Amino acid sequence: MTKTIIEPFRIKMVEPLPRTTREQREHFLADARYNPFLLRADQITIDLLTDSGTGAMSTKQWAAMMTGDETYAGSLSYFDLKRVVQDISSMTHVFPVHQGRAAEHLLFRAMNITSGSMVLANAHFDTTRANVEYLGAEAVDLVIEDAYDPASEHPFKGNINLERLERYLREQHERVALVLMTVTNNTGGGQPVSLENLRAVSEIAHKFHKPFFLDAARFAENAWFIKEREPRQHDRTAKDIAQEMFSLADGFTMSCKKDGLVNIGGLLCLNDDALAEKVRCLLILMEGYTTYGGLAGRDMAALAVGLEEVLDEQYLEYRVASTRYFFNMLDHIGVPLMRPAGGHAVYIDARTMYPHIPATEFPGIALANALYLEGGVRAVEVGTLMFGKQGPNGADIPAPLDLVRLTIPRRTYTQSHADYLGEIVQEVYERRSEARGYRVVKQSAVLRAFTAELEPVTTPAYSPTARACAGRT
Ligand code: F0G
Repeated sequence: MTKTIIEPFRIKMVEPLPRTTREQREHFLADARYNPFLLRADQITIDLLTDSGTGAMSTKQWAAMMTGDETYAGSLSYFDLKRVVQDISSMTHVFPVHQGRAAEHLLFRAMNITSGSMVLANAHFDTTRANVEYLGAEAVDLVIEDAYDPASEHPFKGNINLERLERYLREQHERVALVLMTVTNNTGGGQPVSLENLRAVSEIAHKFHKPFFLDAARFAENAWFIKEREPRQHDRTAKDIAQEMFSLADGFTMSCKKDGLVNIGGLLCLNDDALAEKVRCLLILMEGYTTYGGLAGRDMAALAVGLEEVLDEQYLEYRVASTRYFFNMLDHIGVPLMRPAGGHAVYIDARTMYPHIPATEFPGIALANALYLEGGVRAVEVGTLMFGKQGPNGADIPAPLDLVRLTIPRRTYTQSHADYLGEIVQEVYERRSEARGYRVVKQSAVLRAFTAELEPVTTPAYSPTARACAGRT
């Protein structure tokens, strides 16, 4: 048997990659105010900002686009999508929405989440947290301690701490609106949740009569990790495992831009008829009629095919193996990584890589910018700029970790792209002592990471004496 896991596809349509010089990149980054989010596509050679809506569709998906039914009410593409979603999830009500955050907003509004309410999760993704907090409620993360230790090799670092979950449900019972499990845990390194943990969460939530939802953006990658890593799951199919995951929940939100293998789309699915009625009203008010929810018929047609393709085990094996290939390459160089390899991304521990840059000077931004300058590679900071809080005096309170996410779009880049990335990361790693921090010059009140403007900190040297001389402690 051969050892090499090959891409289970060949390429039929190609798109040129922009190539730039270092001098150009220096200008582009300064124009982007040192925030890679503000770069333009033609300034980037390899874009690892996100795996969201950036993947390639298959020939079958493109063919389905052509037969998408654009009927306003009663679109046949909706019924195709509903059939596929119900085959995987058995949810009674299937609402298409334009993307994941719309599903989150509709769900939280329909559940009457207000100030005083609480959502308990392993970890909220940033839009999920923002949607909870926007309604004045509290988003509580209860992921296991291992999740905060990048070096821990725990196979299911997305698991929730069951004791803390039960304690919150007992002590804050009135306030808790729902329990939400994000599979895989994006903010914690793309780490999966075990089936054992999901079964226990379902049991505990239901014991306290609280609804249990999944944030299913990467459900198929999570199912594959369960198959690979969890005792007694190896002989099951990824689809069978996914079906069990969904069967434990009362509903789910999903950004289909990830494991839906489409460029746009989302789902809100649930069993409760009364809640569904409220969602239906809000959906019509904000997204669109119930049989399209803000999507074109062709988008739903492509999604129906994508949800079937994503559970193809050859695809999942390749997907997880290609992320692991990149992870192993960086590990070999000695780069500090969030361990073990996750599903959709490799996360570099920037705080450990740059011990001379304090968290309040955004080591993650320093690394993301160094990668861009070195090779036109765009990555994303998942650290103090994205998750740090501001103290009463406006000073930054560091996030628990300063990671940089190199996110791998689905079916898009090849092994030689990964090898090129390895060379760029190695170069940046070898010159790590030269990196400098950043300070924010302009930011918005909510989700600042997307639009913040920064500038390099120009302290001449980072020894404690030089910092003190420069008036900074
Ligand atoms: N939940 C998770 C776990 C996500 O990763 C995302 C998006 C969302 C919800 C929101 O979905 O973008 O379709 O509205 N994650 C992207 C990312 C943006 O880059 O990780 P959306």
